Formats: sequence, structure tokens, C-alpha cells
Amino acid sequence: MDPLCKMKWWQKAVFYQIYPRSFADGNGDGIGDFAGIISKLDYLQDLGIDAIWLSPHYPSPNFDCGYDISDYTGVAEEFGNLALFQEFLEGAHQRGMGVILDMVLNHTSNQHPWFQESCSSRDNAKRDWYIWRDGRPGGPPNNWNSPFGGSAWEWDEHTGQYYYHFFFKEQPDLNWRNPEVKEAMFSAVRFWLDRGVDGYRLDAIGTIYEHPDMPDHPVAMSGTELRRELEKAETPERRHELLCLWKEMEKYQVEQPGMHELMQELRGVIDEYDDKLLIGEDEKIAYHGDGTNELHMVFNFPLIRTEVLTPNWIRNNQAQRIKALEKISREAWPCNTLGNHDSPRIWTRYGDGKHNAEQARLFLALMLTLKGTPFLYNGEEIGMTDLYLDDISQFRDTLGLLYYQAQVNELGLMPLDALQRAARLTRDKNRTPMQWDNTANAGFCPEGTVPWLPVNPDFAMGVNVQEQETDRQSLLNFYRNLLKLRKSIPALIAGGYEVYHPRNPRILSFLRQIPGQTCLVALNFSAEKAGLYLPDVPGEIKVWFSSENTSCEIRPGKQIRLGPFGMVIVELL
Ligand code: GLC
Repeated sequence: MDPLCKMKWWQKAVFYQIYPRSFADGNGDGIGDFAGIISKLDYLQDLGIDAIWLSPHYPSPNFDCGYDISDYTGVAEEFGNLALFQEFLEGAHQRGMGVILDMVLNHTSNQHPWFQESCSSRDNAKRDWYIWRDGRPGGPPNNWNSPFGGSAWEWDEHTGQYYYHFFFKEQPDLNWRNPEVKEAMFSAVRFWLDRGVDGYRLDAIGTIYEHPDMPDHPVAMSGTELRRELEKAETPERRHELLCLWKEMEKYQVEQPGMHELMQELRGVIDEYDDKLLIGEDEKIAYHGDGTNELHMVFNFPLIRTEVLTPNWIRNNQAQRIKALEKISREAWPCNTLGNHDSPRIWTRYGDGKHNAEQARLFLALMLTLKGTPFLYNGEEIGMTDLYLDDISQFRDTLGLLYYQAQVNELGLMPLDALQRAARLTRDKNRTPMQWDNTANAGFCPEGTVPWLPVNPDFAMGVNVQEQETDRQSLLNFYRNLLKLRKSIPALIAGGYEVYHPRNPRILSFLRQIPGQTCLVALNFSAEKAGLYLPDVPGEIKVWFSSENTSCEIRPGKQIRLGPFGMVIVELL
């Protein structure tokens, strides 16, 4: 039986993340929107992706670029309306693409009517929908921090209590121990499923519960001090040590008991519908439950907790990840990604500055051949790069702005120095508008309109869709070809993963195997030529794909030479 038949749609799919503010501006106001996305659905279909993850599209004051929702069943005015959303969804479905939405369960915006009510008085019916506590003499209820800076508690003058926020103070945490909250949020989840969406990416899922007794964390340093130490850390060991301290600091704020039960309830809601998907933004794979009753997938973030991707790093990551998933159950499915709206662009982060074009191809080959569902981020297919903003008035990510202010006001840095540091930290750098062509504003929005974030000027140097479409050698066409190729090799989608040559420092090679098809993937992660002996199999070897710089005969038992960042995908017949 065809092993693909047994698989769920999301196990076979390649996902593509759309960051709606930056994708395509259909109404000429400088902000991406549904009209823009609809006009690019054919592009996405041609690219060869199977499903879209849409970052938040809900009404929001945008203190955290849409991750602070003020209405869970609405559409942000600047993006369009429900009818346009529906047109987008149906357009995607007609083209055979699924759509999952971003669901932010941990917190709402402080502008959400629920929070406004909750703030209005201590005896308001929604008071207990958020987390309110009395302070201790002279300060907040405990020493918890927000990873976004400062205390996790905010004083409310009007009612004389503190409320809890894991992220910005403009993102108060919901009290998930209140059954009314659960019901309200589950009904928001149903709202979009009723409209036909195919599932959800669950934002910051591990932060939903806090320790009910709210004890102080045991770390002597403050969050701000720890962050400064992290910036100064010169060795990986010191960094590791500090990150462990950071974990210790958050120990009562994340991954608390009750999570599994909640995920099971949520899965119950999702399973009222046919074949929907839940994928969690979390470091931990624990929330697969028994493999069938909690989340379907959890992003493999440990893979990108490095500044250099080496074969050893990837092998270790995959070994740990796959082993842990197998322990859970045969149903627990891996999911790999190299970047998203929170992390630097792959081109900038993992490129060595000399071979970025070759490396970008190698990284895609990695994503499409490892076991599991790949997630790509919009713009990566044309090699978009980080843009370091040089004017603080252009910043839109509050994280970057607050960081800048802290550098100037607390550390006394000169504004220019602070700006340079902030430009590297802010997530604005990797959220700039999609580059469609080499006209004004890269075709993202009309000439004369000011886009919400500056367009990266490299659009004029070939980093745009239109030029790459006509260039057969372009990165975009490489993406298209490889995405197409993946669809024609079932072993790459359904196959097991087995390392080949486990100690080779330069070449990452592995077998992907289903009954009747065995493929070998070999990826050279070095800037030098590297050799690899092919297995000495009785049959022939069929070359599915090889980079131009791969040389020598590809025959059983022979050594092949992969040029710098070269790659090959073969089938052992
Ligand atoms: C998630 C989002 C990030 C956001 C945070 C708070 O990590 O990916 O963009 O800032 O949650 O909602």
C-alpha cells in the first residue's frame, strides 16, 4: 500500500508562513492585507507549497505587531474584513492549499473589552478573567520577570492591584483556571473552524499557566541584570550557563502542571471537526500527549539554537528529537524550520557572507529532505536578508524600541551606538515588506506610499520575485524545482530517517526509506570539496537531483565529490 495514503495532509505538506502586514498591499495604504494576499495565491500555488500559516490577522492595537489581539473573531480593519478573509481562505482551498491561523491563547491585548472590564473594578464579573494580585510592601507580588523586559507585574492605580503579564504589559495574561475564559477562547477557536480553516499554530503555548502559589524564583539576579550578562557573554559556555539561569528564573511561569489536560481539552475541540491541525510554539515536545490526544506537532526550535549549522549539530538534534518522538508514539510527527517572524533571516544568520547563495539552497534541501513537516517563512525563497534600520523613528517592534531606550537611558550609550545595537536585535529587520519586483517599494505597495516598514534596498539587486522568475538559475526557481521534486519522491515525505556516515564533519548524509524506495541525501556543509562513498548496493543508483558542483560517477560503492555546499539526492535501486 502507498505509504502516503496513510498519512495526514499536514504530515505531507510544506507550510509557508505569511506575515500579513508585510506580504502584499492590495489597497495602497502601505500595509499588507487580504486583497494583497489574494492577488498572490497563484504565486504561492506555483511555488509549490501546500499550506499557509497566517500570522495574526485579528484587530489589534499592534503593540506587539498583532500578537496582542483585541477581538478574536474579527479581522483587522487594515487587513480587510470577514468577507475578504473568506475569499482568501476559499481561494487557497481552491488551489489545494490549507490554511492555519495563529491563535494567541496566553494573553489578550490590554485594549480587549474583556480586560477593560476586568480593570474597571475589583468586583467586575470579568475581574477573574485575568490574573490580579495584591502587592507586597513596596512592590509587586513576587520577583517574576517578563522576558520582554522588567517585572511581569503591572500596577493598576484604579483598582489598587497588580496584574500579571508574561510578555509586554500591554498583553495581560488570561486566567486559564477560570472556566469562563476557557469557554470564551474555545468558542473563538470554533469560530474560525466553522469558517473552514484547517487548524492553528498556537502562540507561546507553554506560558498559559503560572504556579498557583506564585512563589519567588530562586535566582539572585534581576532579569535586566541577567540580560546584560547575556549580552556580554563571550563564550558559548558562559551563554549556556546564563540561559540555564534564565530557565530557572522562569520556572514558575512556564510549563506548569495542567498543560496536558488543557491541550487534551483543546484537541477535543479541534476533533469536533475533520482532520484539523494543532501545532505548538514551544521548546518542549511533551505536548504531543500520547501522540494522538494533544498537539499534532511542536516546532523543532532546538535545531536553530545555534549560530552555525553543522552536520554534527543537525545529526545530534535529529537523533534526540526523533528518538524522543518515537518514545511518545508512532503518531508523533516531527516538524522543522530554520526561521520565522521572530528570528533573523536564514540568509543573514546562517550564511557565511561568501557563499550565501549556495547555502540558501543547501538549507532548503535540508528542510525538504529531513523527516517531518517543513515550515518556510515568506521571502526566504528569494533570499531576503535582514535590514538593519538606521533611524529609530522607523522601528515598529516594541521590543527593539524598548531596548534602544534602555541602552540610552539606563546604560548611557550614545544614541548611534544604541541604534546600531537595537537594529540588530529588533524583529523589524526580518519583517520588512516582501519584494515582488524592482519598481518603487519593490512592488509591495504603490510608488509614493510609505510602507509600514522600509523596504530592503536589496530588492534592486535581484532580490525580488519578478526578476528571479525569469532567471532559471535563481533561488526562487531552485525552491520551485525542489518543492516539486519532493512531491515526486515518496520516501522523502514518508520515509524513516537513518544517518549515513555519522561522523563525517563536512557532509550530512542520511537515508530516507519506505518499502520499495530508499533514498540517500548528501549535503556538504563546508566551503571545501568533500567526498563520500556511496553504499555498495547490488542495483544501480538513480540520481534525482545533484548540484552542478557535484562530480564523479555516481555509482554503487564509488566515491562522489561534492563541491562547496554541494548536494545530491539519489535513489538506491
Ligand atoms: C510569540 C510570537 C511573538 C510574540 C510573542 C508574544 O512568541 O511569535 O512574535 O511577540 O509570542 O505574543
